[in-house]
Amino acid sequence: MAVREIVLLGDPVLRKPAEEVERFDEELQSLVDDLFTTMVSADGAGLAAPQIGVSRRVLVVDVRQVAGDHARVALVNPRVVERSDDEEKDTEGCLSIPGVSELVRRPVHIVVEGKDPFGEDVRFEAEGFYARALLHEIDHLDGVLFIDHLSPLKRRMLLKRYRKLREEEEDR
Ligand code: NI
Repeated sequence: MAVREIVLLGDPVLRKPAEEVERFDEELQSLVDDLFTTMVSADGAGLAAPQIGVSRRVLVVDVRQVAGDHARVALVNPRVVERSDDEEKDTEGCLSIPGVSELVRRPVHIVVEGKDPFGEDVRFEAEGFYARALLHEIDHLDGVLFIDHLSPLKRRMLLKRYRKLREEEEDR
């Protein structure tokens, strides 16, 4: 288990659709361990493999603190098979765009299918912040970031804030 470096906005791996996983072997399980370790170390709610530079369809989410004990999962080749028409806005950030956050509209309720890290089929329902975290991480596997869900004006303002933060960081 290792803490891996999280890649930041601007790295092309974040914009590349990730590859389906075909082998459920020890290497995959070690990738999942690294994702959990890196997420916890960065105090994140979720992490997708492309965010540590690995372009494969693997993600982890842990939002038990806000969504209840069931809200921790590692998913491989996930897909959203149902989304409610009901949507809500809540605050989102991303470990690859540190320091900024914005309200994002997402379905309240979803059904997800995929595999667990051992190759077993999984299918489950999620709602509220758990659904939001899953949708955010599944987006990462398609090269989509939460800022893509914002209006052009909101996105521009957020990116301006983000670049200013990065510059201040570099000056330090
Ligand atoms: Ni993210």
